[in-house]
Amino acid sequence: MNLLEVQNLTKIYRRGSEEIHALKGVSLTARAGEFISIVGPSGSGKTALMNLIGSLDTPDGGTILIDGKEISGLPERERVSLRRHTIGFVFQQFFLIPTMTARENIMLPLIFSRQKIDEAWIEQILAMVGLTERAGHKPHELSGGEMQRVAIGRALVNRPEIILADEPTGNLDSATAEQIYVIFEELTRQGITLIVVTHNPDLARRSHRIVTICDGIIHDESSTGTDDS
Ligand SMILES: Nc1ncnc2c1ncn2[C@@H]1O[C@H](COP(=O)(O)OP(=O)(O)O)[C@@H](O)[C@H]1O
Ligand SMILES: [Mg+2]
Repeated sequence: MNLLEVQNLTKIYRRGSEEIHALKGVSLTARAGEFISIVGPSGSGKTALMNLIGSLDTPDGGTILIDGKEISGLPERERVSLRRHTIGFVFQQFFLIPTMTARENIMLPLIFSRQKIDEAWIEQILAMVGLTERAGHKPHELSGGEMQRVAIGRALVNRPEIILADEPTGNLDSATAEQIYVIFEELTRQGITLIVVTHNPDLARRSHRIVTICDGIIHDESSTGTDDS
């Protein structure tokens, strides 16, 4: 079964009297452990699509099923739960708390939702994102790549099924971006589904499938041949 099933999604933004048709009927499916790249020119609807899949915004038409459950019509309480437990978000900006250490930033979602902190799990995440040695450092003491790895750790803390990353390497040099992709590849091997927006064709080729969006429509879907599952 597909973990994610997006069907005929439409999104219209209204700016004064102007209507912007950001998504004009987008369909997309993803299996558990699949790594999908979303590429396309600026303004083509990539962020709009990510925000809808992540339940940060609501569509004007179409359906989004996660684990066979329609999410677009869910009441706010269930949407919060979905964003907290099923989906992890990574953005181009790292959105770290400057006064907190790497470890504390990773634990933040647990603190916010008053969940018990499983110290062993936090150490496991730190190891997964390669920050064991840097756990006690605050963001200003970390490099861009390390800050983004903290953000990935924070996205992982609630054991999500899906990670949505919107241009996660947009602020990083190519060698640093590589390290982020090594982590992404490891996450897919653990069965996490990854949907990543990128402008970098070399990075996109490392995913299993590339989906090209132009002007709110999916124009091309191609397998990269890297899916060995
Ligand atoms: N909140 C908003 N209000 C009005 N228009 C928006 C809003 N968000 C996005 N848009 C418009 O929707 C289109 C798609 O935007 P977006 O999904 O951000 O593109 P991308 O991420 O591919 O660069 C663009 O034309 C953009 O200007
Ligand atoms: Mg965008």
